[in-house]
Amino acid sequence: MCGIVGYTGHQQAVPVLIDGLRRLEYRGYDSAGIVVPENGGLTVQKRAGTLDVLVQALCDCRFTATSGIGHTRWATHGAPTDVNAHPHTDCSGRLAVVHNGIIENYHRLRSWLKAEGHVFRSDTDTEVLPHLIEQFYRGNLYQAVLEALERVEGSFALLALTVDEPERLVTARQDSPLVIGVGERENFIASDIPALLAHTRDTYLLNDGELAEVTPDGVRISDFHGRPLAREIFQVHWEAEQAEKAGYDHFMLKEIHEQPRALRDTLRGRIDDDCRRAVLDELNLEPGFVKNLNKIFVTACGTAFHAGVVGKYIIEKLVRLPVEVDIASEFRYRDPLIGPGDLVVVVSQSGETADTRAALREAKSRGARVVAITNVVGSSIAREADSVLYTWAGPEIAVASTKAYVTQLAAFYLLAVWLAGERGALPGEEREDLLRALRELHHGVGQILAGAGEIAALARRYHQRHCLFFIGRGLDYAVAMEGSLKLKEISYIHAEAYAAGELKHGTLALITEGVPVIALATQPELFEKTLSNIKEVKARGAEVVTLTFQGDHDSEELGDFRVYLPPTHPFLAPILTVVPLQLFAYYAAVYRGCSVDKPRNLAKSVTVE
Ligand code: F6R
Repeated sequence: MCGIVGYTGHQQAVPVLIDGLRRLEYRGYDSAGIVVPENGGLTVQKRAGTLDVLVQALCDCRFTATSGIGHTRWATHGAPTDVNAHPHTDCSGRLAVVHNGIIENYHRLRSWLKAEGHVFRSDTDTEVLPHLIEQFYRGNLYQAVLEALERVEGSFALLALTVDEPERLVTARQDSPLVIGVGERENFIASDIPALLAHTRDTYLLNDGELAEVTPDGVRISDFHGRPLAREIFQVHWEAEQAEKAGYDHFMLKEIHEQPRALRDTLRGRIDDDCRRAVLDELNLEPGFVKNLNKIFVTACGTAFHAGVVGKYIIEKLVRLPVEVDIASEFRYRDPLIGPGDLVVVVSQSGETADTRAALREAKSRGARVVAITNVVGSSIAREADSVLYTWAGPEIAVASTKAYVTQLAAFYLLAVWLAGERGALPGEEREDLLRALRELHHGVGQILAGAGEIAALARRYHQRHCLFFIGRGLDYAVAMEGSLKLKEISYIHAEAYAAGELKHGTLALITEGVPVIALATQPELFEKTLSNIKEVKARGAEVVTLTFQGDHDSEELGDFRVYLPPTHPFLAPILTVVPLQLFAYYAAVYRGCSVDKPRNLAKSVTVE
């Protein structure tokens, strides 16, 4: 997730671009850059670091240009460096592009373009775009972008500028947001509405598969075949702060709603077309090492640890290899029995968590291979691990992790299927069923989000309680842990997650009249067992909310309230089950008047021990 801005009109472009980028910094903040046509050429300024680093670099420059494009980056391909920062230019230096998204076939395009004589400077996927457009440019930028798009696969919001048509910007959208602001003899382009609000509230919202040619005097929208499209003006009524959150009241809610997109992005290009294989070339693990693997360890903190617990269940089940999962602050000091034949998976949204970094080093010092699952390109953990499996959740701003967790789960499913494939541990049809269901799972998440009102009503019912229990077995227990943490950290309600079968060994003493119990019952082979535990707590007066798939069981048996999940492969249930639990925690916190995005005593990135 990055932010892009463009301007063409009568004002000086640079201040407009910088102001727009500042409003989009929440979309990415590891590097920034602008390009403007000046003195018959293009002037590019780009810097790794925050926008302020770029602003500092611009201090001594004088600009007169009245058009330009800019970018604030959240690195995907290529570490956050000056060279990898956008804009990227073609060979002639006369054409520049900024881009948000992932170009999936960039390897192929790059090889072809190199053979055609193009010289590449960065490690990014984006750089293929200016070269590709240059390849087709014959004096008409719009036409060249159209032709280039025929060859591009992936997700993008791109914005192109050439010094040969300095007032004309060309922009296109596929799976990444883009909006055009309409002014008086000036027009604006941005990834998101906050960047426009200082100038205009009249906008055109571009849809996937659409392209626009923007000049000071007009906007021409077409599809990728060049067929013109009519578009109504969309008037924005949000205030700037609300717009940054895309109209949601909190970043957490916005991020919960971004989960279908985050899932799609994380899976994109990693499942082959006929769903036979997980494609994880980035792991760089030799077949010999994978075949002879001794044991897998997973280590992480907090929510990432909970993703690791799901990971353990998945890998053991699919790969039939033993997996140990540890809290990183424990792993680092417990003198783990680990060595060169072992694989350690460290999980960290931020890639900076001190305990997880220390665990990573501990594992490496003992000769194990380390794979990091992280959301931040170029983070310390990404740099120190032997290989990285990135989650493409985009920046997570709310302290409580949501979309990062869901994408970490997706990464574990991919990793498990990949390992199983390499070791011949899972029949082809089972792999196919799983991958097919995984690829479609974002629809199910979307359906749950559409029913958020039902979860909000449950949260309203229970938000004043002092204590709540989450129970489940197997994968459901792993997700119960995450549901409980979410509720604790943002609503400050005491919550406990219990393996449902363990209640009777002590904790059942706390189940009294009216105590809310959220029961997760999604796993067919454990369903009857969990049902018995539901009866057990009901018999002690608990009020039970059960999360399950629609089935032919008697709904009475399933407790007082039921939340039905959309059908999927039951093994993938965690990705669905966690969503109502996130929403429940969110609404409980809102009804209690808590500071949802910044809960007390917590920080987004814990870089101290
Ligand atoms: C809870 C939460 C934390 C983090 C933990 C690890 O919602 O966000 O528990 O999961 O601090 O952080 P990362 O994943 O950045 O290593």
